[in-house]
Amino acid sequence: MKSRFVALGLILIFNLSFIASAFTYDIKTQPGYEEFIKYLDKIFFVSTDEMKNIIKDFHSEMVNGLSGSNSSLKMIPSFTDRANGTEKGKFIALDFGGTNFRVMLVDLDGKGGVFVSSVDKYVIDKQYMEGTGEQLFDFIASGIKKIMEKNNISSHNQLELAFTFSFPVEQTNIAAGRLLIWVKGFTASGVVGKDVVVMLNEALKRIGIKNLKVAALVNDTVGTLVAKSYTEPSCDIGVVLGTGTNACYSEKMVNIKKWREISDKETMIVNMEWGNFNKLPITVYDKNVDATSSNPGAQRLEKMVSGMFLGEILRVVVHDLIDRNLIFQDESAINAFSNHPDFTTQDVALIEADNTDNLENVEVFLAKKGVKNITLESKKLLKHISKLVSCRSAKLAASSIAAVVLWIDPELKNKHVIGIDGSLFEKYPGYKEMMDDALKSLFKENSEHIVLEQAKDGSGVGAAIIAASVASTNNIKH
Ligand code: GLC
Repeated sequence: MKSRFVALGLILIFNLSFIASAFTYDIKTQPGYEEFIKYLDKIFFVSTDEMKNIIKDFHSEMVNGLSGSNSSLKMIPSFTDRANGTEKGKFIALDFGGTNFRVMLVDLDGKGGVFVSSVDKYVIDKQYMEGTGEQLFDFIASGIKKIMEKNNISSHNQLELAFTFSFPVEQTNIAAGRLLIWVKGFTASGVVGKDVVVMLNEALKRIGIKNLKVAALVNDTVGTLVAKSYTEPSCDIGVVLGTGTNACYSEKMVNIKKWREISDKETMIVNMEWGNFNKLPITVYDKNVDATSSNPGAQRLEKMVSGMFLGEILRVVVHDLIDRNLIFQDESAINAFSNHPDFTTQDVALIEADNTDNLENVEVFLAKKGVKNITLESKKLLKHISKLVSCRSAKLAASSIAAVVLWIDPELKNKHVIGIDGSLFEKYPGYKEMMDDALKSLFKENSEHIVLEQAKDGSGVGAAIIAASVASTNNIKH
């Protein structure tokens, strides 16, 4: 009996030292394989109680953000609201916010119909992401010039541009806003603190376009919400789960305590910039990912949830396991898992979705990375870690959505359609189901009131709808 107590005591001490090590990254006693997996399971697991805590912390950060106090949620007024379906006109829509940008011609018929007649997509090379702001905006402007030439848009007619810019921007009106900080790997110089509409206008001028006016500057979440609500009136929250993550919702003006201007509107969409939320159960691996990112200390939720980071989280965990001789006992693996940031969310998805008996797809993937002497046990462990990483991401995303829904409707009485855009939500196998499960664990059968719906490529169209509503307020005919 006594020896059982001693054993229990030792296990407890061992576990406690593990938990402590999660924060110090200094495990003195080398744990065994089984114990280490249990440790990973524990630190990546988000319990229902933790989700409830996240919701509570979200609410206090929202209060602070809305009143202009210090908060990890910037809660930025967007100067616009949801669509009413009657918005009408032809616009050039520019959608810039991640690894590529799109230029489109959008035609709205005023009865809920959207016609996109031309779409050009450009990949943004590292040279532009990390060069000067002028180079970056010149590149964007050249894409606009091409679509105008291709569609014989005369340089005499006055045209309006709807500009989706998916970075933290402090808007000063519907067509002006200063970049607060670069995120998602961008570092282009001379842009932070500047009005991005002015920068775009200057680039358009440099390239000889004088007849294009930016009618609306829009965050992608705002565009997504507006586009979805054009046809789905019960959509009240717009979310992006892609390279980055963020959300917006329609807020009562009286709650936006930091709003100083007079307005006859009752509600306005608020861009939360939730990627920066930081009251989170952070592991040593998250600290590691954050420290090597382009913006240490910022975007902590984004770095645990979004597509830009899931591959990197997997890599740092596996790298640690290799260091501890717990996986891939071959030199070749050290090289494969040493390159930051060489692993993508697609890789994590491929590993997790491999249901072949011997995990052949994982084998092919690892072989391509140059890993030799791969055992089935190592492949299974890799799959297990991928699942931990994606499941945590989905639970954190679901908790964040739950926080916004409860903010709007504390007793969850009404149906809320959440319009969600982004490749993580769209393409990661089982991601939506994991989010639905997390919502079920929070709200039981009442979770049916929260409907997660894809809102593909909505942001550009949403920006055009906003530009149209600005034009109709100003009585401009298109
Ligand atoms: C980042 C940006 C945010 C954007 C999100 C999704 O979090 O800060 O503005 O909405 O990515 O693209």
